[in-house]
Amino acid sequence: HESHDLTGKTALVTAGPTQEAIDPVRYIGNHSSGKMGVAIAENMAKRGAKVILIMGPSQIKTAHPSITTIPVTSAQEMYDAAVKEHHTTDICVFAAAVADYAPANPAKEKIKKSANELSIQLKKNIDIAASLGEQKSPDQFHVGFALETNHEEENALAKLKKKNFDFIVLNSMQDEGAGFKHDTNKITTYHKTGEKEASPLLSKVDIAALIVDNIVKGL
Ligand code: PMT
Repeated sequence: HESHDLTGKTALVTAGPTQEAIDPVRYIGNHSSGKMGVAIAENMAKRGAKVILIMGPSQIKTAHPSITTIPVTSAQEMYDAAVKEHHTTDICVFAAAVADYAPANPAKEKIKKSANELSIQLKKNIDIAASLGEQKSPDQFHVGFALETNHEEENALAKLKKKNFDFIVLNSMQDEGAGFKHDTNKITTYHKTGEKEASPLLSKVDIAALIVDNIVKGL
């Protein structure tokens, strides 16, 4: 991107999956690769922003000099890192796929195979976006994601409101080439002002540029 429309701005991006320990060798995770979040971080960096990228376990790396990557593993670690940085930021983009639940009492030793059935008690994780949304000041801009399999629009609009986002990016598992892992995505953005905009299937790099265009417009 040629323009430097984010010069002087600080942005926080959460990206990738979280891993919630079951025991020292196992975890609950998800299929997020980190590609979407990293593409957004790189686009904002190219446009002049200083970017803090809080990243769950991922193979995707970025070397942009304006991006500081903070690697984390669990939702709690992602929250702890995000809350420390939040007050310094103008823009937050919550692209991570954060586990909603984690094992309540992760085992200290590897769980041995024994009975035919095994239950793991889960407890709710903190919601990073919702929690920072409560602390958001009028000059901070928050963008959320929604990954849905059904009742997409209804769920996205509920999250837009509940988490105090300025807009939310819906990607649907029902759209071919959208969501996890792919190099492409197809999105609909829902703004708190009521506007709605749908994209065609594009590379995650181009989708990132569209999302950042919307941020710049809204600042
Ligand atoms: O990483 P990729 O393979 O490129 O895939 C990209 C993606 C599909 C992961 C990404 O585009 C995406 O949709 N990320 C959000 C996925 C998700 O878990 O959405 P959600 O509907 O569960 O959560 C809604 C919003 O709240 C998200 O902004 C999420 O980051 C945030 N959240 C959710 C739970 C939680 N405990 N803390 C949060 O901050």
